[in-house]
This record gives sequence, structure tokens and C-alpha cells, in this order.
Amino acid sequence: MGARWDFPVLLLIGLISNTVAEFCNVGRTSSFVRSANLSLDMPLDSDVFRVPPGYNAPQQVHITQGDHGGKGVLVSWVTPDEPGSNTVRYWAENSTHKQEAEGIVLTYKFYNYTSGYIHHCTINALEYDTKYYYEVGIGNATRQFWFTTPPTVGPDVPYTFGVIGDLGQTYDSNRTLTHYELNPMKGQTVLFVGDLSYADDHPFHDNTRWDTWGRFTERNAAYQPWIWTAGNHELDFAPKLGEYIPFKPYSNRYHVPFITSNSTSPFWYSIKRASAYVIVMSSYSAFGKYTPQYKWLEKEFIKVNRTETPWLIVLMHCPLYNSYVHHYMEGETMRVMYELWFVKYKVDVVFSGHVHAYERSERISNIAYDIVNGLCTPIIDSSAPVYITIGDGGNLEGLTKEMTEPHPSYSAYREASFGHGIFDIKNRTHAYFSWHRNEDGYAVAADSVWLHNRHWKPSGELPVAAI
Ligand SMILES: [Fe+2]
Repeated sequence: MGARWDFPVLLLIGLISNTVAEFCNVGRTSSFVRSANLSLDMPLDSDVFRVPPGYNAPQQVHITQGDHGGKGVLVSWVTPDEPGSNTVRYWAENSTHKQEAEGIVLTYKFYNYTSGYIHHCTINALEYDTKYYYEVGIGNATRQFWFTTPPTVGPDVPYTFGVIGDLGQTYDSNRTLTHYELNPMKGQTVLFVGDLSYADDHPFHDNTRWDTWGRFTERNAAYQPWIWTAGNHELDFAPKLGEYIPFKPYSNRYHVPFITSNSTSPFWYSIKRASAYVIVMSSYSAFGKYTPQYKWLEKEFIKVNRTETPWLIVLMHCPLYNSYVHHYMEGETMRVMYELWFVKYKVDVVFSGHVHAYERSERISNIAYDIVNGLCTPIIDSSAPVYITIGDGGNLEGLTKEMTEPHPSYSAYREASFGHGIFDIKNRTHAYFSWHRNEDGYAVAADSVWLHNRHWKPSGELPVAAI
């Protein structure tokens, strides 16, 4: 049982900690106290997992960006009984002319589980900034959805991303998704930073939990793209079950447009969307020097044109900076490999998950160390990204609460609560990031910061601790 403190005591602690934080010029550890109860996965007969009516009706419908520039949409869905149709019919809002795109169907086996028929269909050459309706399925089991394509890629195009990580399928997961859907800031695309279903936490990696997760998230992911990042719970590496191929369920179910960014793997790729260039990396694929991921990234950063897409965002599951006890320093090898490039190419923000809590860093780097010079402490660096850990979607493993002490100066704010983020790009110079904890009202930001673009406005953004 966690301690329950009275409000005046909390207020006093808050005042003292704020005063201490200002006096010591360090970041802030939130004193917010939330429920200590662990959340279980929602039962299989929960309404959020309901199967749509009709024989072989498409389910688990979800979309992601289908090309590099945002004129393509990749539609995926599952038919449970037979392959059915691979066709997506689609039409612009102001048109009655239905067009068709043809996809593929696949199945996979995992231990004693056989998947339904998983369809993937890319629609190309859409108009920017247009609402489209689309249909999948046959006859009376046809299902209709819609999406809106992003505006034409350009430097001052406002765009609003949601940021969600480590979601799972508990009652807390449902609260997080609802909170995101009802946030008045209205995210247009979700940047998902890995760990989707947590099926692997069930006996034999029960893959029916991949299906329930697909049905749970359909209510949002069928209508706006989710940009996928692979986490450790996507590995499903289970030699004892005879399953030796990493990422098998994930890579069959969640296709991404990796070929259009000249990647050779779906686990690392990039997209352009509105005024943002998003690079997705894989914490759980080889990333040392000479590896395919390294070689791809080496060319990728050079390609980013900040005049076209000012905002450079990196997604990876495992954070490079994390001051919680759990997963502490797990991202260190990748930090040593890639932090230098993040600073050199002025990445604006790195979003990660993995740690089931929230944390935002100052703009800091730790790239001076050469083994003998002793310069191994992070320092304020205006060319460095802000690192945001947002693995607080609400999965069955619960919150990460134990923090390293004292609160390190590189960490601006940390709090162990479930929630989601909104990254709201205003123009080429300014973006507003806010973090929304599930316990608050839909419009409330528990933490927020104005980010100045590192290419267009590299000065004037003070470290929070120095304000
Ligand atoms: Fe994780």
C-alpha cells in the first residue's frame, strides 16, 4: 500500500521541493501522487475488444504513412475466417468516384497459434490535405473509415503529433487512448515509440492478445496514421517455444514504408510529414559501426533538408537519457554510437518509451569524453536534442517509480504517471510540447515546454533549470 498524504502536506512538500529545485538549479521531480494499484489486461470479452459483426468482417484496421512524403497511406486489416478481398476502395470527400488499390495477404504461425488473414494495401498518389473515405471487406461485412492526408510538405506547415508509448491493453491503456482522443489539441498522427500489445507477457506469448490489441486501437488507428517503432516487447524471441525469428508477429502485422526511405529493414526508416522529418530507429537491431542500420543512418541525416522540413524528430524505444532506476543506462551503447550525430545534425527532439514513466531532459550532450580526458558529465548544449521518455501508456507491467537520487541536472522534469504527449508544430521556429497525465482533465498539461527549432532558431531557448 502506498502512503496517502493530505493535500496541505503535499502542498508543503511541493513548495519545498520547488524552492530546493530553484535554489540548486536542478530539474524537478514531481510530487504528484497517483493510484498505486496495478492494472490488469482488460478481459477478452471487454467491449473494446469486440469483433465487428458479419461473416469474415475486417477487424484490427489500422493505417500508417504509405510513402516517404505523405501522399500514400498503408491500410492493414485482418479477416478471421478466410482470405477474402485484398482491395481497398477509396474516394475523396467531395467525390463519388471510387478508386481501388490492391494489396497482399499473409498469415503466420507462432507456437500453437495461427494468425488470421493479415492484409496490407498501400494507396498511393493521394492529394495532400484531403479527407478520404475508404472501405475494406465484402458485401454486408464491408466496413468504412476515413482519414485526412497531411498538408503539402513545407517549412511553416502547422501539424500536431500525438506521442504514445508502451500502451498495452489494460484499463489504464484505455484511459490513455481516451485521453488522447479527447485532448482538445487534436493530434493528427500518432508517433508510437514501441511496445504495443504486451502479448509476450502472457503464457506462450498468447498471440490472441495481438488480435485484441489490434481491435482495441482500431478506433483511433483506422482514422489517423500511427508511426510505428519496434520495442523489446515486439521481439517475441522464444527459443523454448521453437520461435527463433525476432519480431515475427510485429513484422507480419505492422508494415511500414521503409523501402521508400531506402532502408533495407522495416525496423529503421524515415518519413516526411508536413514540416517534420521523422527518423525511426531500432534499439533491438544491430546498430554498431558497419551494420545496415548504421550505414543507412549515416546517409539519412545528410538527406534532411531543414529548409523543407525544419523539425527533425527521432523515435527509438530505449531512451538515451533516463534517470529512473529501472532500465538505467540501457541506452548507453546507442548513446555512445549516435549522440554525436544527433548534436552534429541538430536533432530537435528524441522521443523514447521503454521506461514506464515520463521524463524530459534539458538540451544536453555528453560527447566530449575520449576515455582519458575525464569529460564524462552531460553538459548544456544548445545543439543537442531534448530527450523525452514517454513509455507511460499504461501496460500491465505498471509504472516505473523508483528514481535515481539526487535528481540529475540533465533531467528537467520527471514523474511516474500514465499519460500521453502532444507535439504541436506552429511554424519553422516554434513547437509546443505538452504532457498530459491521465488523472487530469482533457485540456490540462502536467508538463509543457516551448521548443525552438535547432536549425532556424538555435538561440533564445533557455534551460528550464536556469529560468
Ligand atoms: Fe520496453
